[in-house]
Amino acid sequence: MATMESLIGLVNRIQRACTALGDYGGDQAFSSLWDALPSVAVVGGQSSGKSSVLESIVGRDFLPRGSGIVTRRPLVLQLQKIEGGQQEYAEFGHLPRRKFTDFSLVRKEIQDETDRVTGKTKQISPVPIHLSIYSPNVVNLTLIDLPGLTKVAVEGQPESIVLDIENMVRSYVEKPNCIILAISPANQDIATSDAIKLAREVDASGERTFGVLTKLDLMDQGTNALDVLEGRSYRLQHPWVGIVNRSQADINKNVDMIAARRKEREYFATSPDYGHLASKMGSEYLAKLLSRHLESVIKARIPSITSLINKSIDELESELDHLGRPISLDAGAQLYTILELCRAFDKIFKEHLDGGRPGGDR
Ligand code: GDP
Ligand code: NA
Ligand code: MG
Repeated sequence: MATMESLIGLVNRIQRACTALGDYGGDQAFSSLWDALPSVAVVGGQSSGKSSVLESIVGRDFLPRGSGIVTRRPLVLQLQKIEGGQQEYAEFGHLPRRKFTDFSLVRKEIQDETDRVTGKTKQISPVPIHLSIYSPNVVNLTLIDLPGLTKVAVEGQPESIVLDIENMVRSYVEKPNCIILAISPANQDIATSDAIKLAREVDASGERTFGVLTKLDLMDQGTNALDVLEGRSYRLQHPWVGIVNRSQADINKNVDMIAARRKEREYFATSPDYGHLASKMGSEYLAKLLSRHLESVIKARIPSITSLINKSIDELESELDHLGRPISLDAGAQLYTILELCRAFDKIFKEHLDGGRPGGDR
């Protein structure tokens, strides 16, 4: 009996294979298959803490960071849990044969690959960078880091950049299978949150939005964020999660991720304001919450995903039969890969349904 863990892993692998095929000008069927598979997009204003939250979820330093617009292309990040004791590594979609074990080189490659497409300017590009991280310390998840929403163009940027960024972010979050991780900093009024504004626009009922409140440690003395965290300021269907990421000073002092997570746990455990919520706060809790949600979304979508997959299998088979149009060796290999994955997926789904344990493994 397949576990949900392996189902999310399979979804990840199909998404990766679809992406690789997309690079060869793949078919509509695969982009609709991709859209049918849920993923999590990280949305928020510039410097709200998006990259920090992602790094905390992964438990690794690997993202370019700094003030201003750093993330200038979408980063599709697939986390794949591997057996304990195995070496952690990363792999880029555009460098499929290279395993990165040094995460500072991952950061450098993200920067270089961003510059390759956008030039060394402050321009943005909607062409995503694909990165997979294989680690014993992650939960299975697909996360998408997006450029920060902003209100004004800075020196060297065209005026259109504000709207260009908003439209790019919207193109991800408006998809019904996109889970929105809406990041707002606690030291700004939630009523002015870019993340919440956009999330509300595309998900009025709040059923696929997770509200994340960062920078709790930077609030003015004598104030707290309980109104937000307890859902009184802005109600979502999922509970809000408060986060304390590393400060810029921590980063400058090279405070590592393990120490940062411990500091965050201590912050909540000892906080007079948030102590009663401690078990439902912090990056580790957020990662588990998202992974669990992703499982339940996949379960709920099994019938529709299965039918899409069957449609893709049919199309793939006839495509491989005919191969009437010119097709590169690599693209042919990718088609076979997807076909194999789709068959495996279909089989596991059927087992899952036939297994007759409604509600699954939990
Ligand atoms: P992004 O632009 O939304 O990706 O934001 P970053 O993750 O790059 O964070 C911007 C700055 O805010 C960095 O200097 C972070 O160290 C800092 N920062 C982010 N989250 C927190 C937090 O929870 N507490 C503190 N003190 N600083 C934070
Ligand atoms: Na930034
Ligand atoms: Mg960022």
